[in-house]
Amino acid sequence: MAAAGPADRLVTTPFDDALVPRPRQELPEGAHHVPSWLTLEQQRWLVARFHEWATGPVPIRAARVRGHEMSVRTVCLGWHWRPYEYSRTAVDVNGERVLDVPDWMVRLGRAALVAATGDVHAADDYTPDTALVNFYEDTARMGMHQDKDERSRAPVVSLSIGDTCLFRFGNTETRTKPYRDLDLASGDLFVFGGPSRLAYHGVPKVHPGTAPSGCGLDAGRINITLRVTGLDG
Ligand code: SIN
Ligand code: MN
Repeated sequence: MAAAGPADRLVTTPFDDALVPRPRQELPEGAHHVPSWLTLEQQRWLVARFHEWATGPVPIRAARVRGHEMSVRTVCLGWHWRPYEYSRTAVDVNGERVLDVPDWMVRLGRAALVAATGDVHAADDYTPDTALVNFYEDTARMGMHQDKDERSRAPVVSLSIGDTCLFRFGNTETRTKPYRDLDLASGDLFVFGGPSRLAYHGVPKVHPGTAPSGCGLDAGRINITLRVTGLDG
């Protein structure tokens, strides 16, 4: 085979800079980041589902925390989340029951867990029964918090679409340092389970105008977290 020469630089190929792996940093045990896990086609399809879910039966809304509306808006599947509990019906919105978690989403969650951990058995017992679907406009943020309204300590699977955000992933003891800052970009998968399941985390910033063309969102950021509530009924 001929050695690559300057002429090769002029050939257009589908292997553009987006295929160059983004830098990864060491994460605490149980936390995993898989950049670009979803294809653009998969992202577009999820965005279309998001628009369906957002219209109801329980419309997307900003939850109120201690009397203040969150800047992020949320629509839920399976169980309706409000600070700091789950219910089957949206008692703080319109009293309707939320949509079920679709089977494809359970399978997607299992595939995500296997991909993130590299362990083919990681998802043998994993059946997420709720999805919190968040929409971030340019200035939306999420403060440091633990996901601890679930009774189960099964891993949380997080998928991001649209604008890149700064994601802060901390420790299980305090909202403050030590934490790691990383970018979650469109198509990225993040999983936190095991010793990291109760780590504080948050989204200090969304970077407007960074959504890749073809992801289905012109502006803003969607984040889907799949969880196991451990609740009955
Ligand atoms: C969350 O902590 O529930 C959402 C995190 C994110 O938007 O990436
Ligand atoms: Mn969270």
